[in-house]
Amino acid sequence: MRSISSPAVMQRLALKQKRAGVPVGLVPTMGYLHAGHRSLVEEARRRVGASGWVVLSLYVNPTQFAPTEDLSKYPRDLKRDLAMCREAGVDAVFMPSDAVMYPGREEGRYSTYVVEESLTRPMEGASRPTHFRGVTTVVAKLFNIVLPEVAVFGAKDWQQAAVISRMNRDMNFPVRIVVAPTVREPDGLAMSSRNKYLDPTQRLQATVLWESLKSARAEVKRNGTVDAAALHARLSAIISARSEARLDYLEFFDPETLQPVVEVTKGVQMALAVFVGKTRLIDNGRL
Ligand code: PAJ
Repeated sequence: MRSISSPAVMQRLALKQKRAGVPVGLVPTMGYLHAGHRSLVEEARRRVGASGWVVLSLYVNPTQFAPTEDLSKYPRDLKRDLAMCREAGVDAVFMPSDAVMYPGREEGRYSTYVVEESLTRPMEGASRPTHFRGVTTVVAKLFNIVLPEVAVFGAKDWQQAAVISRMNRDMNFPVRIVVAPTVREPDGLAMSSRNKYLDPTQRLQATVLWESLKSARAEVKRNGTVDAAALHARLSAIISARSEARLDYLEFFDPETLQPVVEVTKGVQMALAVFVGKTRLIDNGRL
């Protein structure tokens, strides 16, 4: 396994693979890897085949964090991440520094961003207004640096996957976007690097996101059509019954367009963000 930190070197190696007819698969991550990330590596491997080249990028992207979000506290464990990549059969890890990804940014001399103007508005975009500009910018840069045929993202971040798919189409990147299912802990909590912030009480209460999803699914199954406002109220009550939990948003929407619906039926997507203590957790699923 190679570790590469220079974009120029990464791009040169990727071009070499392409010219040799070797398909390249990319898994973008911010590190602190868990079984969810690993499942994306496995999906990338399935897509490019045994002789393909799977690249995992490991970069805590500063432009997707708001100044209040404390980027410096994002969990990191490079040694463990590299061991996991090796074990998962990653061929190359791309781990650039801020200085090479955003040259001159500290001095105000980095000035090009990619902005998606529609799907970024609700949910995560409303709660974190500058977040998606950072995500689309870094992913576009990674596409240009790693030159993948296939890039794999997790359904855990449903809106992110939708925004990236839209950007990919709108900007004509020659990349196939694959969205892989959410990997969960045995009690249903979606795996996330942020779960490590939870204390034991919060960890127990964090299952409320999964329980809300299951409860919504059961209700749709039972009744066929459910009024979105009424379901929202019922799930909000389940969430606020947990002492450590505070609802940020809960929405029912079309899985492709992200347009909210007033009638919840089978096939509608539900997404929610909940603060558990100070940690903000997100989850989503198809009803
Ligand atoms: P990060 O949070 O590290 O997630 C990297 C990828 O792993 C994303 O596509 C995310 O959806 C996926 N993922 C996270 N938890 C998962 C789970 N439990 N099951 C399946 N997939 C999961 O998302 C980002 O980083 C960044 O925004 C990034 C796209 C790398 C741009 O900086």
